[in-house]
Amino acid sequence: MKFTSALVSGLLATSASAAFDKWAPWGKRDYSCINVYQGVPENATLAANWPVEIGFNRNSGRCDAIYDQYPNSNYSVWLYNNPVRELGNVQADYQVRLRDGIPSDAGRVTVTLPSDLPEVDDDTVWYLRLDTWLPTAPQMPSFFNVQGPFRLVR
Ligand SMILES: *[C@@H]1O[C@H](CO)[C@@H](O)[C@H](O)[C@H]1NC(C)=O
Ligand SMILES: *[C@@H]1O[C@H](CO)[C@@H](O)[C@H](O)[C@H]1NC(C)=O
Repeated sequence: MKFTSALVSGLLATSASAAFDKWAPWGKRDYSCINVYQGVPENATLAANWPVEIGFNRNSGRCDAIYDQYPNSNYSVWLYNNPVRELGNVQADYQVRLRDGIPSDAGRVTVTLPSDLPEVDDDTVWYLRLDTWLPTAPQMPSFFNVQGPFRLVR
């Protein structure tokens, strides 16, 4: 019985994390319009304090061309642990903004995972979200790209 319940909870944990669709909107008018051509491979293992260079642009091929005419604001980078979708929004066990004020034309940013992150239930479901928004576009949509899941070793 003990073996069975461990197996069942393992399967549940697997399907819960597999079910998180990182490309779906994280909120209202949120679009996966950012392309990351250099960054963290899916299922990578990262260590705290290790620099991660992210190369990005707006050429995702996933974006409605109507937005091409609108400039985006500064970019930010967020770190999430175990994001799950609830009623159209994303909740996470932990989240923190690692950087903001990344100029709209930067194309590149280097972040490091802090060494003082709190303990979490699952260190294999960390994600980096890079986002910005379009201040002059109708309804001011946000644009994002998500890298992960990745494992954090402490
Ligand atoms: C990452 O791991 C998941 C779950 O094991 C798997 O479905 C996915 O294909 C992996 N991604 C890559 C790029 O190997
Ligand atoms: C963008 O970030 C720069 C610093 O990098 C800051 O001076 C500027 O006010 C920011 N612009 C907006 C619209 O937040």
